[in-house]
Amino acid sequence: MTADELRTKYIQFFEQHDHVQISGASLIPENDPTVLFTTAGMHPLVPYLLGQEHPAGQRLVNYQKCIRTGDIDDVGDSSHLTFFEMLGNWSLGDYFKEEAIRMSYEFLTAAELLGVDPDKLSITVFEGDEEVAPDHESARVWQSLGIPRERIYYLPRTDNWWGPAGATGPCGPDTEMFIDTGIPGTPESRPGISDGKYMEVWNDVFMQYNKKADGSYEKLGRTCVDTGMGIERTIAILQGKNSVYETEVFTPIIAKMEQLSRHRYGDGEEHDRSIRIISDHARTATFILGDEKGVKPSNVQQGYILRRLIRRAVRHGRKLGLAGPFLGNLAEVVLGIYRKPYPMLADKYDVIMNELLAEEERFLTTLQKGEHEFAKKLPELLQQKDRTIPGEVAFRLYDTYGFPVEITEELAREHGLEVDREGFDKAYEEHQQRSKMDHSAAFKGGLADHSELTTRLHSATHLLHQALRDVLGEHVEQKGSNITPERLRFDFTHPEKLSPEQITRVEQIVNDQIKRDLPVTIQAMRLGEARKNGAIALFGDRYDEVVKVYSMGAYSREVCGGPHVSRTSEIGEFKITKEQSSSQGVRRIRAVVK
Ligand code: ALA
Repeated sequence: MTADELRTKYIQFFEQHDHVQISGASLIPENDPTVLFTTAGMHPLVPYLLGQEHPAGQRLVNYQKCIRTGDIDDVGDSSHLTFFEMLGNWSLGDYFKEEAIRMSYEFLTAAELLGVDPDKLSITVFEGDEEVAPDHESARVWQSLGIPRERIYYLPRTDNWWGPAGATGPCGPDTEMFIDTGIPGTPESRPGISDGKYMEVWNDVFMQYNKKADGSYEKLGRTCVDTGMGIERTIAILQGKNSVYETEVFTPIIAKMEQLSRHRYGDGEEHDRSIRIISDHARTATFILGDEKGVKPSNVQQGYILRRLIRRAVRHGRKLGLAGPFLGNLAEVVLGIYRKPYPMLADKYDVIMNELLAEEERFLTTLQKGEHEFAKKLPELLQQKDRTIPGEVAFRLYDTYGFPVEITEELAREHGLEVDREGFDKAYEEHQQRSKMDHSAAFKGGLADHSELTTRLHSATHLLHQALRDVLGEHVEQKGSNITPERLRFDFTHPEKLSPEQITRVEQIVNDQIKRDLPVTIQAMRLGEARKNGAIALFGDRYDEVVKVYSMGAYSREVCGGPHVSRTSEIGEFKITKEQSSSQGVRRIRAVVK
């Protein structure tokens, strides 16, 4: 059973039971400041669970994209995910325990539906406490369906209570369904203990209370049912796979990673872990960027989570030997997997590609230096008794090199160290204070250092390339380029020495384009598409590879890694200093900018 089949079967089954399919909501919750992301299918339905009338009626069904960031740091093992899809059916004051459980049982066990062997099912119910009585009613329904008493477990609130998604909201006891995977357990094995033997597939929540801001519970005017089945986990179990990463919603992403990194998945735990982290984070980042609410990487709230996911993926990419941007290639694969259930992703193609690339670029320029800085400090840190990275060091990595503190913590753990988180927070706050004071002074003036000069020469090289084609002909092709802060050197195919007039003409064209102050823009697209759009593309024949195209107005368009000036006027005055032969049929130009 594939994810697509499971989605379809679930929706159809509940439609046959008089439910109406509603669309899933945005990943960014509406009117709920208490959580960053939609964490469950019930989340967008909270007002209706609390009593409002839903326009589609009292029986609803859908699939919902969800993100849970609570255990981001556990991602990398075989089961944790940040993004997942949840199937759910709801009763808004309509059916309650008996009918909900009967439908769950039928969907799980009927041969034409999931076909789970009833002997492999175990159930948990709420054992009760001083506030709410034990849920004998659910247990009785399960027993009437044939589940023996010894496979029905009464568990406490920590296991069998669905708290509100945020700080307040509807809640109640639940009954959870587990499948015995056949993996030999331990004497302690039981549903709710995650040793791999019992896997939870579904949760039926019986909403009876509203938790209020003061922490008290009030009884709901009408009882509701909220259920949730995680798609990734369920298909993994149904397919007999040991891990969600072995199912078809991940294998194509992993295959792409194998192709890009030349590491085979399964060849070593450390690399496998990095591949899983990257696969999960690329998928989640694609969905956040492709969401209708359109979040971009930033230093606050959802944007910060997105930034963390991308940067962590980039760091693990480097561990696998990937030096350049690669996440766009993975996003392409994610888009392919989810084209049908989430058509919105395709509409957001440009945003997804451009933002991934821009964020990768931002981090890549400093990542290596930051890692170097970390490595330099490491021997000293390892000597220390408390093996703790001071807050100021973590802050410097954050502030200067763009390391989210959680990445520094992960780096630290890899070396048996920890980060003084309090110290970091303090340094962060002090910096906020200071930058508030410095704000007026902060944006004055530009720095003319080496990298800026190199960047200007690099942009000049693009104009030169196009100008040579204009003056000499389309046979001009780049054969080599070497740029230092002092000069550019450009080798290109051309059979004979350039005349003084030709040289002057090329210089003139370049300087004209500089004077026109053309905007320099970046776009991510597939190589094939870039070529079709007339971009000069020098290397690579992987047409589906996502590349960056730099355009200078409509004059120059070239596939390139950057960096470039943002407007051509920043290049300055362009001058060719030498024209000579490089090798047979190849000329060499040296030039400077002033
Ligand atoms: N809201 C319940 C869950 O997410 C169904 O498990």
